[in-house]
Formats: sequence, structure tokens, C-alpha cells
Amino acid sequence: MGDLAAFVRGLPKAELHLHIEGSLEPEQMFEFARRNDVALPFASVEEVRAAYAFSNLQDFLDIYYQGAQVLLKEADFHDLATAYFRRIAADGARHAEIFFDPQTHTDRGVPFETVVRGLFSAMDEAEQTLGVTSKLILCFLRHLSEEAAFDTLEQAKPWLDRIAGVGLDSSEVGHPPAKFARVFVAARKLGLKVVAHAGEEGPPDYVYEALDLLEVDRIDHGNRSLEDDALTERLVRQGMTLTVCPLSNLKLCVVDDLRSHPLKRMLDLGLRATVNSDDPAYFGGYLAQNWIETAQALGLTRDELVVLAKNSFTGSFLAPDEIARHLAEIDAYVAAHP
Ligand code: ADE
Ligand code: ZN
Repeated sequence: MGDLAAFVRGLPKAELHLHIEGSLEPEQMFEFARRNDVALPFASVEEVRAAYAFSNLQDFLDIYYQGAQVLLKEADFHDLATAYFRRIAADGARHAEIFFDPQTHTDRGVPFETVVRGLFSAMDEAEQTLGVTSKLILCFLRHLSEEAAFDTLEQAKPWLDRIAGVGLDSSEVGHPPAKFARVFVAARKLGLKVVAHAGEEGPPDYVYEALDLLEVDRIDHGNRSLEDDALTERLVRQGMTLTVCPLSNLKLCVVDDLRSHPLKRMLDLGLRATVNSDDPAYFGGYLAQNWIETAQALGLTRDELVVLAKNSFTGSFLAPDEIARHLAEIDAYVAAHP
């Protein structure tokens, strides 16, 4: 391992943008398909990987929803999340705030309860055995209706003591945040944190809507905010966290090359950017891989890496004392690695 990779892997960090369904590795897809007797349109793991060539978000989403069809039992959700936690523990993660897409499952007849029970047990085990804490964020699929989102929020009500917040994902363009303004008001009234994917493919106006209509606590991606100077200044002023996903942006052709990724520009502008993996099984790398490839491509300094690590905790939904403890751990790590 090179110096950079070793430093990154040891640096305490959090992941704030991860779709648990996007951590489904092809090997696991075959395993779950076999044990659940689900037919797959692929003959081999190699064939699955060969299909992961995307030219935009929708290309990816079509395959991602197809892959999720092998997830049927509580044990599938448990095993999926457990494999993810093991990988990020090895990447130096101390905490993760993970998205799940209940509608992808309930629309296939998998009960909401089956999904969350599997995820909760994996989260509890990860905390006990790996020392990785986590929170769960329920994402509404924006290509579906407002009514379907309200119905999903209703199904979540018995579990709200263990759901930290709601988010908004899936096909962005044509499904602006405004479509879900009333659902997000209801979610906030329930005491939930709120986040939304905005400015991944969609225009700066969608970021404004996420801020003004959804009153988000974080913006997921947010890349296209940089096209609007007033919006950028506002995000800096508000200390808004952006959960940036460099390898995702590369694979979905949001950027042409990691060397032209806006992460460094975001940091230079004073934006509270973080580095995350989005859908690591589909985009070629988990948390540390995103950090390392981006740091190499952009020539990030050690100080910038430390800022990114600190941003991942200050932008989290952890309590202030927990955030302070993680920031002190980062300072101790940096002092011990001159
Ligand atoms: N669902 C999973 N990954 C996503 C992404 N990057 N954007 C929108 N929806 C998603
Ligand atoms: Zn995402």
C-alpha cells in the first residue's frame, strides 16, 4: 500500500451517501438468486460486470432495480448490510448513514418490516463487532407519485425510533423536489432529518427547491450548484454539507475524468464537501477507493484529506458530543502520522 492509501485507510471517517441496495455485489446477487430461486438474466458474474457500462443515471437505475429483485427475505437485507459494514470497517469508517429504497421492495410484495428488520440487526451487529455506528435514511423514489411517498411514510411510522431521516433519490430530471414538498413537511413534523439528491444531473433550480421547499439538512451530490455563484455562496454561508460521490460521477458520466471532478473546487470555495461511494458494487469502489482515486486525480493535500474527514462527521446526524469525539480521534491520528 502506498503512503497515500495507508494514510487514507487509517484516517477516521464517515460515509454519508450510500444506497444499501447499491452494495449488492454480483457474487451476492447470484447467491441470493440461488437461495431464493429467482431467475437472473445473466449467466455469470462476468456477464453482470460487463453490463455495468452506463452513459447516464437512468442506465444505471434500470440495472440497479433489476438487481434488487433478488432481495426477498430478512436474511438477504441482513447479509447485504453486513457485507457492506465489513468492507467499510476495513476502509477506516467509524460511522455510516445509509439509504434504503423501501418502495423497490414493497412494490414487489416484500413487507416493509422484512426490509428494516434485516437492516437493523446488521446495524446492531456492526456496532458491536466492528465498532461502526450507523443511521438509516429512508429514500422516496422520485419517479413514483407523491401519494406513493406518503404511503411509504405511513408504513415507516412504527419504526421511526430507528429511522433518522428521509431522502429523495432515483431519476432526477423531470422529478423536481417540489413534487415532494408536502411529504417532506410531514416528515419534518415527525422529527425526521431530511436530505435530497439534487444537482447530480438536475439543474441548480432543483438545489434551490431542495433548500427552500424541502428545507434539507444536506444535499446529496450537489455538483451542478457550482453553475450558479449565488447558490454556491448560499451553500457556503449556510454551512450546507454536500455528499459528493466521485466514482459514481465518473461512471454515470456526470464528469468525463476524475481529474476534472469539482471536489477540489468545492473545497477551495469553502463548501462543506464529503467523499462517498453511492453504489459501490456498481461504480467500482467502496469508501476508501473513492478517497484514494480522487486524491490522486486531483492532487489533494494531506490537509484537504483531513478537512474531508472532519466534514464527514460535522455533516453527520450524530450528536454533538459524538462528533467532537470523532474529531478528536482525527486530530490524534494526524498527530501520530507526521
Ligand atoms: N439511487 C441509487 N443511486 C442513485 C443516484 N446516484 N442518484 C439517484 N438515485 C440513486
Ligand atoms: Zn445516491
